[in-house]
Amino acid sequence: MPSTAAIALRGIVKRYPRVIANDGVDLVVDKGTIHAVIGENGAGKSTLMKILYGMVRPDEGSIELAGRPVRFASPREAIAAGIGMVHQHFMLVRPLTVYENVVLGQEPGRALRWDRRQARSEVSRLSKEYGIAVDPEARVAELSVGEEQRVEILKVLYRGARTLILDEPTAVLTPGECEELFATLRRLKQAGSTILFISHKLKEVMALCDRVTVMRRGKTVGEKACAETSREELARLMVGDMEIAESKSSDFRYEAAPETALELESVCVAGPHGRRALSEISLSVAAGEILGVAGVEGNGQRELAQAVCGLLPYYGRIRRAGRAAYIPEDRHRCGLLLCAPAWENMLLGRHREREFSSPLSLDQAAIRRYGRALVSDFDLRPPDLEQRAAAFSGGNQQKIVVGRELSKSPRVLVAAHPTRGVDIGAAALIHDRILRAKAAGCGVLLISADLDELLALCDRIAVLYSGRLMGVLPRGQANLETLGRWMAGLEQA
Ligand SMILES: Nc1ncnc2c1ncn2[C@@H]1O[C@H](COP(=O)(O)OP(=O)(O)O)[C@@H](O)[C@H]1O
Ligand SMILES: [Mg+2]
Repeated sequence: MPSTAAIALRGIVKRYPRVIANDGVDLVVDKGTIHAVIGENGAGKSTLMKILYGMVRPDEGSIELAGRPVRFASPREAIAAGIGMVHQHFMLVRPLTVYENVVLGQEPGRALRWDRRQARSEVSRLSKEYGIAVDPEARVAELSVGEEQRVEILKVLYRGARTLILDEPTAVLTPGECEELFATLRRLKQAGSTILFISHKLKEVMALCDRVTVMRRGKTVGEKACAETSREELARLMVGDMEIAESKSSDFRYEAAPETALELESVCVAGPHGRRALSEISLSVAAGEILGVAGVEGNGQRELAQAVCGLLPYYGRIRRAGRAAYIPEDRHRCGLLLCAPAWENMLLGRHREREFSSPLSLDQAAIRRYGRALVSDFDLRPPDLEQRAAAFSGGNQQKIVVGRELSKSPRVLVAAHPTRGVDIGAAALIHDRILRAKAAGCGVLLISADLDELLALCDRIAVLYSGRLMGVLPRGQANLETLGRWMAGLEQA
């Protein structure tokens, strides 16, 4: 049946060697609305969006724009049809300025001597019109993640997109940045744009979107008006009949603090331009305690994690009670070998251990046993030890990292943003495993930009601002207002 919807995808099928990423997906989006596509990691959301954007060719199915059938051979053709995509991982040229990035490949004026002034004024105009705060002259290398995302959005708008696809845009943003993004998206909608908002954060979907399509294991399992559904109903649709794991820190209460797992004494780390990235940090984490570290990104969290794990030189003293495990913030750059199969990634850093090797070779049988146990303990999907790390969804990649690190039975765990960009099912599982490590007496340093996560899991919460410790509060005394003031550097304990 023909439709006048802005976008209609029908019966989309995309098969990969080991999995059917899209298995007959239907998606109809009305013009001038914000439409969410939600689903757990691996549900097939990104694949569907890449198909709409001409990046991936479907095996079956059809696409219509405003009732007209289209078939895109490349993103170039999708862009020409008014579709723009803001990717999960940004694709900007870091040494160039904001405005140079925005116009790149479509510079105004003549080919070899393009008009910089016009480019700058065009970028300023767009950023004013949609309330997207960026400095056109700033270098991309110096921007925060949130600012980089704004540049990606400007790039798409500059190319005249009337349909915007945002794939998990809030995964990398602070609460304040999320609010700004939502305001921009609402303005775009008012101006008549159609927006596809990919997420697995139900709170955001309900706050922002008009309609929502739910995907599970490659299929569309529901479509609702946000006003007529609830977070509970959407969560049930996303995860199916499976129980939604609700982990509660109180189930794992730790009595008294007999020993110290981690202690820092006046730790300083040198930063760029002769400044200190960390200044005189003293803190301790008891065995079986989770100490949260809150703060706006870039205030010393990364240096703290790396110093504790021995990856960065520091002054002062750091004492660890035993083996440390590290869940790094950037699983792509530091946590995984993307081209290697899952089993090799699970073994990283452990291959010399007696459990897995003899003097001359690796013990493949023992490695497979360990791998299979980890797959079932972490519900890895697909449960395929041979699949390359790159081919797993973000949440499943993170399960590999967390599983490997916790398999070391560490005395100290440094977890940096362990559930960032991860769906609710995987996040609940990762939280549960961190709580289990705590229950086993591990001291946990949990760095997160998500205050809800910290308040749910931590025994105490510390705040870093500009490399300094602004204060530490037991969970019972922590509230958003105090933490927020410390995070903004307005006040110190
Ligand atoms: N290029 C690819 N090669 C092989 N498998 C892929 C590829 N891209 C995605 N997949 C698989 O397809 C499924 C859906 O992935 P994806 O669309 O990224 O899900 P989502 O965005 O909902 O997390 C996953 O099982 C993923 O591993
Ligand atoms: Mg995705």
